[in-house]
Amino acid sequence: MNLINNPTVDPTLDLVAEINRLRKEKNAVILAHYYQAAEIQDIADFVGDSLDLSRKAAETDADVIVFCGVRFMAEVAKILSPNKKVVLPDMKAGCSLEDSCPPDEFEKFVKAHPDHMVLSYINCSAKVKALTDIIVTSSNAEHIVASLPEDQKIIFAPDRHLGGYLSRKLGRDMLLWQGTCIVHEMFSEKELIKLMAKHPDAPVAAHPECPDQIVSHADHVGSTSSILKFATESDADTIIVATEPGIIHQMQKAAPHKTFIGAPGADGNCSCNTCPFMALNTMEKLYLCLRDLGPEIDLDEETRVKAEKPLRRMLELSPQKGAAKDVSAVGA
Ligand code: 13P
Ligand code: SF4
Repeated sequence: MNLINNPTVDPTLDLVAEINRLRKEKNAVILAHYYQAAEIQDIADFVGDSLDLSRKAAETDADVIVFCGVRFMAEVAKILSPNKKVVLPDMKAGCSLEDSCPPDEFEKFVKAHPDHMVLSYINCSAKVKALTDIIVTSSNAEHIVASLPEDQKIIFAPDRHLGGYLSRKLGRDMLLWQGTCIVHEMFSEKELIKLMAKHPDAPVAAHPECPDQIVSHADHVGSTSSILKFATESDADTIIVATEPGIIHQMQKAAPHKTFIGAPGADGNCSCNTCPFMALNTMEKLYLCLRDLGPEIDLDEETRVKAEKPLRRMLELSPQKGAAKDVSAVGA
């Protein structure tokens, strides 16, 4: 799926210099997720996973947050920092998990189970967040679910694979919304087994958005930042990585002597595992977004206030851990 529609920008323009000039001029901070193109990660002030980036967005003193990630991530920044201007290079950068949980249907589901606490993965719309008791990310979900009383009934939405993983790991029954990530569903168990046979000493690190048939082969399961930590700190020379391949850029920077192999899709290569939504953001769109301060995230205040509560709850309940990796002080 190639959705990228690059606007026309003067090809002679030095985009790196222009982005650096504009971010200073506008007192903007550039936050980037690990799934962004390497050049975007390299120019960002901070790169991190969903939790790292939420924390950064909540505490920044910049006037403008340029969010290089997908729309729900930029919405989180706006929910937590309502007085900042939050812009996203491409407003069409959605997420299949968000799409798989329409707020009206979710509201009916929640109302049908009034004795359940509602936990939602951060990969959902602001309206779904507004119907939620506690938001979680892949780096704090296990900790937060484990902290709830054992007899507490839980709805978990929208990712059935992350929910299933938590349920198996913690031995808890949860009512799972049946959403999935189209990217993590593309990994092929058959091809992964072939790759593991070719590299018998290579550990497998997987994101919990992967289906169980992939996660069950993993030596390490965790968020993008925990996969990065595992891959760079592991004694192994070669690591098989079952998540979006954008993360491999930071792995190569942190451990250039190691080999990181993206887990394969059904065709035997990993190109089908590139997130088409994340890929919508380009350097050209980042430049235009800084220049024009748009497209801008705009949320209705009632939804924002309701969505802020479960996000603040998440920040309170999250284990304290290293914040986003500061990858670039340029222009910051
Ligand atoms: P992380 O919070 O692990 O970065 O995951 C975000 C995401 O969208 C994974 O597909
Ligand atoms: Fe959404 Fe999947 Fe892309 Fe993450 S990788 S942003 S869950 S579609």
